[in-house]
Amino acid sequence: MLDTKASAPGKIILFGEHAVVYGRPAIAVPLSQVRATAVIKSSHNKGVQLHAPDLGIDTGLKEAGAEDAIAIAVRQVQDAAGLDHLPHMTITVTSEIPIASGLGSGASITAAVIRALAVYLDLAHLVTDEWVSRLTYEVEKVHHGTPSGIDNTVVAYERPVYFVRHHPLNHIETFEIAEPLRLLIADTGVSSSTKSVVTDVRRCWQKEPERFESIFDGCGEIAVAARAAIESGNRREIGRLMTRNQALLVEMTVSSSELNHLVGVSLGAGALGAKLSGGGRGGNMIALVTRETEEAVYNALSQAGARSVLRNVII
Ligand code: PMV
Repeated sequence: MLDTKASAPGKIILFGEHAVVYGRPAIAVPLSQVRATAVIKSSHNKGVQLHAPDLGIDTGLKEAGAEDAIAIAVRQVQDAAGLDHLPHMTITVTSEIPIASGLGSGASITAAVIRALAVYLDLAHLVTDEWVSRLTYEVEKVHHGTPSGIDNTVVAYERPVYFVRHHPLNHIETFEIAEPLRLLIADTGVSSSTKSVVTDVRRCWQKEPERFESIFDGCGEIAVAARAAIESGNRREIGRLMTRNQALLVEMTVSSSELNHLVGVSLGAGALGAKLSGGGRGGNMIALVTRETEEAVYNALSQAGARSVLRNVII
């Protein structure tokens, strides 16, 4: 069998995290500069070997734990293909995407494995973006409980997506960014579990349903307005909407002192807008900058204690 290789991008949520779980629209974009890659080679050793040095995984498929995302992805493809046995092979996964920081590392690794394996097994006819997204979602559920589905969608389609969670089918529209957006992505260095933040928000919503419904409505309206601003290339408006979205995320209790600090510092140094991205309480924040303000905002974020700052991110 021929060796195969596939990769998938990281992602950022530009607008609407958390509210998206409650059926409000959200916008996510792929982060093509940082990627997860899966390489599959035939092997003389028996069985399927999983090798992911960045994740500390080096195991046989049979011995892999029930929670091993790569093993679950492999079994998803095997089931979808209706295969009783898999050929002997080694699956090697590498990733440039920081783990547990809201940049979609888990979904991206899964999507890369699913694509590479499907091609390796001669199932290329099955491989549509929709199919990769659906299988990736099944794996995401094991780790995240009931994810909205936005992460798997954006990494599988690798296009900007406007996403509304819906039963039985999500509403997904890919769309164009009229004028490229320049972002800085700063890591608070605080790792945070999206699953537990999502659970907390649910508790708050149950306690104060009216207040939280109205916060979610506000996020939904911002996402709708943001899509129009992105499609018409109105950067100032996009920035303003990001900062308004951040205020609602603070009300939702999902920001943190570190995130608030980095957002404030970015705005003070001239960013057009700034907000946390993803689950919150840690992880990354994003700042919308221009070519002229990028350097000043980058320096301000670095001096303010950001663990790392990704620059030259153009989406
Ligand atoms: O932490 P991330 O980047 O995986 O983002 C989670 C986004 C949430 O809206 C908080 C949860 C979800 O499933 O959509």
